[in-house]
Amino acid sequence: MSHIGSVAAAASDAARPLRTFQWALIGPGSIAHRFAEAVTRLDGCRLHAVCGRDAHRTQQFADRWSQPGDTAVQAHTDPAAVMNDPAVDGVYIATPHGQHFEYALAALQAGKPVLCEKSLVPNQAMGQRLVDVARERRIFLMEAVWTRFLPLYRDLAVWLREGRIGALRGLQSSFCFPAPYDPDGRLFNPALAGGALLDVGIYNLTATRWVLQQAYGQVPPLQDLQLSAVLAPTGVDSRLSVSMDFGGGLVSQFICGIDTAAPNTLQVMGETGSIVLPKTFWQATQAVLQPARGPAETLERPFEINGFENEIREAMRCVRAGEIESPIIPHDETLAVLGWMDRIRAMARVRYPFDDPQ
Ligand SMILES: NC(=O)c1ccc[n+]([C@@H]2O[C@H](COP(=O)([O-])OP(=O)(O)OC[C@H]3O[C@@H](n4cnc5c(N)ncnc54)[C@H](OP(=O)(O)O)[C@@H]3O)[C@@H](O)[C@H]2O)c1
Repeated sequence: MSHIGSVAAAASDAARPLRTFQWALIGPGSIAHRFAEAVTRLDGCRLHAVCGRDAHRTQQFADRWSQPGDTAVQAHTDPAAVMNDPAVDGVYIATPHGQHFEYALAALQAGKPVLCEKSLVPNQAMGQRLVDVARERRIFLMEAVWTRFLPLYRDLAVWLREGRIGALRGLQSSFCFPAPYDPDGRLFNPALAGGALLDVGIYNLTATRWVLQQAYGQVPPLQDLQLSAVLAPTGVDSRLSVSMDFGGGLVSQFICGIDTAAPNTLQVMGETGSIVLPKTFWQATQAVLQPARGPAETLERPFEINGFENEIREAMRCVRAGEIESPIIPHDETLAVLGWMDRIRAMARVRYPFDDPQ
């Protein structure tokens, strides 16, 4: 083909609309509604099917998100129906963390790209097994750490890379909420990988790694780790106060809990200024930069839909480009966070049934 011919072909490819990306969702619980809303309102994709254990609840979910003038969202109770459906382009998994592995593995083995809620799995060994399958089969796999995709964080990255607060000195953050104690519920049940760390502390850890990566290009080796843990009667962590020392006085301190309230802020301290995400830092739309001298600067970056749109767009971009991981939350990043969580849980003496060798 001539050069002109290839340019013409490329132009016509660019003009051709992409086929609608069809999502299937497993685990139609509370967060699944947020995903369904984003997928329904985003251009270029739709919710094709939903799979849950209870036929009535699953059908209700499918009815809620079926759109007038579009084919109804299918409701299934058998995951195989989703995995074997050629119309499914990607599977989003929103069951409790203890049940992510089995569904993610089944999807990957069926050749379906996977976007899986955090925490991807209960421990690093299970994460490595999933990543190995994704790499061997060349199927997309991404942990849905939506925080890293928020527009606010893109601008924060510029502040950090440009050294707007000078040399990084430390971080403090909290992510806590008071959950009613239910030994069988997903937050307190070890069989569902309950506990504060995997449910909310993962955000303190990912924010720590993300800030260090922006400031230094990589996460310096962890020199020391100290913590204080409060365990629930079921043995899972209901609260952790953690101090991570990266050397040279650079420390990230955080508290995560499912038995207490907290300001839920992120503070990043530097030699010549600080950055504060004043509320719910994992879903922040506002950040304030306060130089040691001079006026504060405030960033406002509202969500386009509900905050999930960015991670969904990135997952679809990767799948369409034939990529098996996203540079924004690559496999090794998920595995590194799982490794930190294993270490913290070992110190806190929190064990899951999944931790025993299979
Ligand atoms: N990204 C975020 O902002 C965010 C926020 C909250 C949660 N999450 C994550 O999303 C996941 C789900 O949390 P959620 O708050 O949505 O929980 P949830 O409301 O309890 O929903 C969980 C769903 O999974 C199903 N399920 C429960 N136990 C199961 C089992 N043993 N096997 C298979 N399916 C099971 C439930 O089915 P039934 O209806 O049949 O019981 C329900 O549909 C968790 O991993 C959590 O960390 C993320």
